[in-house]
Amino acid sequence: MYKIPMSLYIHMPWCVQKCPYCDFNSHTVKKTPDYQAYIANLIKDLQQDAIFCSNRSIHSIFIGGGTPSLFSAELIDKLLSNINKIIPINKDAEITIEANPNSVDIERFNGYQQAGINRISIGVQSFQADKLVKLGRIHDPKEAITAGKLAKTLNLRSFNLDLMHGLPNQSIDDAIYDLKQAIAIAPPHLSWYQLTIEPNTLFGSKPPVLPDDDKLWEIYQQGHQLLTQHGYQQYETSAYAKEGSQCQHNLNYWRFGDYLGIGCGAHGKLTQPDGKIIRTIKTRHPKGYLEGRYLDKCYDVSKEELPFEFFMNRFRLFEPTPKHEFEQRTYLPLHSVEKQLATAIEKNYLIENKESWQITDHGKLFLNSLLEVFL
Ligand SMILES: C[S@@+](CC[C@H](N)C(=O)[O-])C[C@H]1O[C@@H](n2cnc3c(N)ncnc32)[C@H](O)[C@@H]1O
Ligand code: SF4
Repeated sequence: MYKIPMSLYIHMPWCVQKCPYCDFNSHTVKKTPDYQAYIANLIKDLQQDAIFCSNRSIHSIFIGGGTPSLFSAELIDKLLSNINKIIPINKDAEITIEANPNSVDIERFNGYQQAGINRISIGVQSFQADKLVKLGRIHDPKEAITAGKLAKTLNLRSFNLDLMHGLPNQSIDDAIYDLKQAIAIAPPHLSWYQLTIEPNTLFGSKPPVLPDDDKLWEIYQQGHQLLTQHGYQQYETSAYAKEGSQCQHNLNYWRFGDYLGIGCGAHGKLTQPDGKIIRTIKTRHPKGYLEGRYLDKCYDVSKEELPFEFFMNRFRLFEPTPKHEFEQRTYLPLHSVEKQLATAIEKNYLIENKESWQITDHGKLFLNSLLEVFL
């Protein structure tokens, strides 16, 4: 069983200002939070989770948020060294921190690197001042470029820029301009998300005017072509990377690997020695979490749900799905999904060979219909 890699996600729940499109679990900093106390609680939270992962080690770590770069390098160092004492971190583990362009400088980046961070993900979103204002961002294009260039000078294992497209009043040229600016910095990884309007956000209650479907399609086509010409391979809907620089942490989620989740609202998925898969959900609000109530929910994922969960993750990736991984990661026999797979193949959503299944272009376009086959 422990051929299944286990990652660790750590959630940092604070931001300087809430962006109007964001439905992540992030809270505006009113008075400076007790960052030190939060780190101490993360460590205790992991100590309690250790019962779910006997003798395993950590394959990758992702410190996300919120704005993790509000935490000092000293605190990140304390966190990582304590994690390693509780559950050993593999020597070659990818360790990422998310950083907002306005909360970083060379000292902080250097400190993170010394603490063991080997990948930085920078939330740029756009390189155009008017777009950043509309998105409620507190950085300007210059700060975004500086943060990207700083990350580059560190010679990290990798770094990523997050960009969004389909922004209010965005033309095709605007979107291509953003990509060209990012390509000029040459990050090994680029996440290129289409802006979605989420219900519980300011944009959800007062939706801005977004590009229509034809324009969105054109932005995607031209942007995809530009990224491909510059050596970025798309390996998931929104994820592009230079050869060998795919995000190992996200790959583990999408390959239905295991993960611990510590911090406010973090989710975990952990396969137990008897083959049961448990899901953990941590207390969402910092107040309850800081009072020591870490685990909010913990339950077994039912066998009936597993095929859908497995394929929902797996088919986000454009690589083939090895058939043996279905059995290895769900503990279900292949014949339990034979009928559903035959339907998906008949509908031209999938093709198969002896070893693997591969999603077709038609399947990518109708991903929801493909997944419904497993419900
Ligand atoms: C966890 S979030 C935030 C990281 C960091 N705090 C920041 O904002 O730069 C990771 C990324 O998700 C993307 N994102 C957040 N909300 C989105 C939305 N409504 N639609 C599309 N992408 C979104 C943004 O690109 C963001 O950088
Ligand atoms: S900075 Fe990032 S996590 Fe915070 S509110 Fe904005 S998008 Fe959300």
